[in-house]
Amino acid sequence: MKPDAIALNRSPDDVLGIYQSAMEAAGVGFSIADATRSDFPLVYVNATFERLTGYTSEEVLGRSCRFLQGDDYDQPGVHAMRQALRDGVGCVVSLRNYRKDGSMFWNQISLTPVHAPDGKLTRFVGIQTDVTELKQAQEEAVKAEILRVELENEREIAALRENFASMVSHDLRNPLTGITLSLELLETLDDRLTPEKRLEYVQRARRQARNMRDLLEDIVTFSKGNAGRVEFNPQSLNLAMFCRRLLGEMQAEGRASGGSHQFDFQYVGDASVIVDEKLIYHMVVNLISNAMKYSAPQTQIDFHVQVDADHITLKVSDHGMGIPKGDQKRLFEPFHRARNVREISGTGLGLAIVKNSVERHGGQIQCQSVEGTGTTFTISLPRRSP
Ligand SMILES: Cc1cc2nc3c(=O)[nH]c(=O)nc-3n(C[C@H](O)[C@H](O)[C@H](O)COP(=O)(O)O)c2cc1C
Ligand SMILES: Nc1ncnc2c1ncn2[C@@H]1O[C@H](COP(=O)(O)OP(=O)(O)OP(=O)(O)O)[C@@H](O)[C@H]1O
Ligand SMILES: [Mg+2]
Repeated sequence: MKPDAIALNRSPDDVLGIYQSAMEAAGVGFSIADATRSDFPLVYVNATFERLTGYTSEEVLGRSCRFLQGDDYDQPGVHAMRQALRDGVGCVVSLRNYRKDGSMFWNQISLTPVHAPDGKLTRFVGIQTDVTELKQAQEEAVKAEILRVELENEREIAALRENFASMVSHDLRNPLTGITLSLELLETLDDRLTPEKRLEYVQRARRQARNMRDLLEDIVTFSKGNAGRVEFNPQSLNLAMFCRRLLGEMQAEGRASGGSHQFDFQYVGDASVIVDEKLIYHMVVNLISNAMKYSAPQTQIDFHVQVDADHITLKVSDHGMGIPKGDQKRLFEPFHRARNVREISGTGLGLAIVKNSVERHGGQIQCQSVEGTGTTFTISLPRRSP
């Protein structure tokens, strides 16, 4: 027998008689409606239906069962039943119903069409089950799940905010040092500076101020809450020029603050690539400043960039103090500093920022280092097409 249609060679009322006693025994509400009339009036309800709804059979017979909905009839389950009845097919729905005393219960209703031997639709059988407890348990579970997800999101956002704040304050320090240095030079060397030199220092300070402004904009965006993470905004950039200029600035700052290094800059491949300029800035500044900080003045630092068909590789090598094996795994964790740094100052955030910036590009970073000999950081970014 098909579950949604009862069509036997017996008279419909015979079939219903069998159903009726089975349902009574099972303790579920049972109702029969006349399907030949437009409003499907009830022609029979069992004792469990009466108990479940609080209405007697005299009060309900001849009426459409919709009175159980009260004013609460705009429910998906009601629409589904209406459609099924119109199409003459079965359905199972759960909806809010109201007893005679006004109390609400969740009613699971299963409707089945009954056909006469000639195929004519004559009856609809309804089976009602009170599923309030089940529904409440489900709702509790859903509420608990929503609460859990909300809490998790809040925790994640708090962690991101914290991380971002330290990232930003760290990265504000670099341009600020640059500006201070340029201003100091302008002040102390004023009459000894050629107009070109003076212009160079002013321009440098202006560029650094622009970097700071960009970063501050990030903070504003972030604190508004409309950016859960550091933005990723890949655009066409002349990477060759960008790296050369940044390196020049850092070298000049190194000289101005006492220690300078021998730089070997090499760039191979297309000059223009699609990258996020701010994130590339984080990578280059942090790797070069580490190389300068953790190796002796006058020693060589290599900065090699290679752009091929599908990768951009940035490599920074120094001949400095190196990183002890035991610290190499944890270098990219925020605040982690190797045990051989001694009095060299730092917060341990630089490489965490680099890693984050590399990952936003879908790239990878590797470190090769021998303590006392030197260190090489290699970044590999997948190339994006315009
Ligand atoms: C046999 C049968 C039993 C029904 N039992 C219920 C019920 O327990 N609760 C309910 O809200 N609606 C029940 N209905 C549905 C309503 O009677 C009505 O068909 C539904 O609200 C959609 O039609 P309407 O748009 O005319 O209200 C039943 C319908 C039939 C045919
Ligand atoms: N080129 C390098 N040579 C030797 N050690 C390095 C080098 N680069 C990084 N390190 C080690 O990795 C640690 C983490 O580097 P990171 O740049 O994250 O922090 P930091 O330089 O200590 O501080 P800052 O936040 O100011 O950059 C450093 O403290 C240092 O121990
Ligand atoms: Mg650093």
